[in-house]
Amino acid sequence: MALLLRCLVALLLLALASAAPFSDSKRAAQVPVASHVVRLTKNTVSRSSALSSTRVRKFRAFTDGTGSSAVGIATALPVHYQAEYLVEVNAGGNNYSLLIDTGSSDTWFVRNDFQCLDAYLRIVHVSYCNLGPYFKGDFPGGQILEQHFNITYGGADGPFLNGLMGYSDLTVAGVTIPKQQIALATLGIWIGDGISSGILGLGLPGLTEAFVGMSPVEDGLQNLVNYSPVVTTVATQLNKSIFSLGLSRNSSESFLALGGVPQHVKVGNYANVPIQKMPKSFGGSDYFYYALTPDSLVWNSSRSRVQQETLPQVIVDSGTTLNVFPYEIARSINEHFIPKAVYTTSLGGWFVSCNAKPPSFGVKIGGQMFWTDPASMILPEVKDPATGYCATGIGAMDGSLYILGDVFMQGLVAVFDVGPNMEMRFAKRI
Ligand SMILES: *[C@@H]1O[C@H](CO)[C@@H](O)[C@H](O)[C@H]1NC(C)=O
Ligand SMILES: *[C@@H]1O[C@H](CO)[C@@H](O)[C@H](O)[C@H]1NC(C)=O
Ligand SMILES: *[C@@H]1O[C@H](CO)[C@@H](O)[C@H](O)[C@H]1NC(C)=O
Ligand SMILES: *[C@@H]1O[C@H](CO)[C@@H](O)[C@H](O)[C@H]1NC(C)=O
Ligand SMILES: *[C@@H]1O[C@H](CO)[C@@H](O)[C@H](O)[C@H]1NC(C)=O
Repeated sequence: MALLLRCLVALLLLALASAAPFSDSKRAAQVPVASHVVRLTKNTVSRSSALSSTRVRKFRAFTDGTGSSAVGIATALPVHYQAEYLVEVNAGGNNYSLLIDTGSSDTWFVRNDFQCLDAYLRIVHVSYCNLGPYFKGDFPGGQILEQHFNITYGGADGPFLNGLMGYSDLTVAGVTIPKQQIALATLGIWIGDGISSGILGLGLPGLTEAFVGMSPVEDGLQNLVNYSPVVTTVATQLNKSIFSLGLSRNSSESFLALGGVPQHVKVGNYANVPIQKMPKSFGGSDYFYYALTPDSLVWNSSRSRVQQETLPQVIVDSGTTLNVFPYEIARSINEHFIPKAVYTTSLGGWFVSCNAKPPSFGVKIGGQMFWTDPASMILPEVKDPATGYCATGIGAMDGSLYILGDVFMQGLVAVFDVGPNMEMRFAKRI
């Protein structure tokens, strides 16, 4: 991802055909009912400050963008607790917990001989990486000898993994995906949660990170090979190119559904928005992330209101807790908390009294406004140890991708149609 990210800085914003609002019945009829649904676990991760202050992982990006840390790990992430969504996946007859990530496309598990590196690239005890149970045995469907796995999360200096590529049948939400290409991670810088054994990458084929040859240090676009990630293999398997995610602050209501939206889930009107292409490194454009350009952002306290209509492209990323916006937008939203949230340089994020009044915050997409649940705007599980203040749901990261993370997705049903339509649909859960 590092390579891509470096090239994506000047984001080309494609014209966005904003969808007209539709009636309930018309919309509802167009989103199929999923036959395969799995409940997700919301996990609050406890990480020691020593670990998390030296390393960062894209998922929980709280970044100050100063690149001030010792060895080019771009930013610090000294938060002690973070929220993430996990799903149970069966591979080779065993169950594993994987992180749900729409912001990457590779599905990987940690191999039993994994070598854990510290921020100085020294091999350290594997407990330092705090991974969940190892993958048992080798690739059940055989290794792909001429390829390897090499992924960097969150920008050129982010954590990375090297590994092997191969095949396994995977069972997710009761669907068995035959001969899925997966990776087994053998080496890397990682901050785990002690539970998850890897990641279920629900991103598009354009982001897969398999490389031909055996020398990771030489990897580049010249030896990158795309393969069919889980979303496209599932689409083929089910003859339905749709999946949906319902992330809730309440763990027991969170789901991943393959083939559509679960029958029992009640939603308001769907807004439709095309998934946008992004520029490729050497010209042209392609689909990489679940990217869209919001019509507008709105935030207000009881005292003042701001509406921003000229916005950059954002990606919808279940693997990031916060919404991540350009600095000036993030600053303004954070100053609309009462009392104001304060930027804490050492933590690279905004913190506020845990019982502050958050601003009303809305994201308009496809002609429809989605108001964030005020409860999602303050993260009680992420505290500044020095002050006891809570992190806010809005972070900043300039010169990179902007993100609608879990804070945006909570309380919505997000539908991803990776078929010929290439669109996303969002509706409020009611
Ligand atoms: C894996 O999980 C499924 C469903 O939760 C369960 O039926 C099965 O027994 C589990 N298998 C193992 C090996 O634990
Ligand atoms: C591949 O792995 C090497 C370390 O082995 C790392 O330096 C490099 O940045 C990685 N490349 C990508 C594209 O992740
Ligand atoms: C999907 O379509 C293929 C051929 O068109 C068919 O063989 C298969 O049974 C279908 N699968 C499902 C789950 O409907
Ligand atoms: C979470 O959702 C479940 C099922 O809908 C409900 O029974 C429970 O009361 C909810 N918990 C909270 C804290 O809202
Ligand atoms: C934002 O404005 C609306 C409409 O004026 C108002 O109802 C709401 O209470 C405001 N939000 C906050 C947090 O004061």
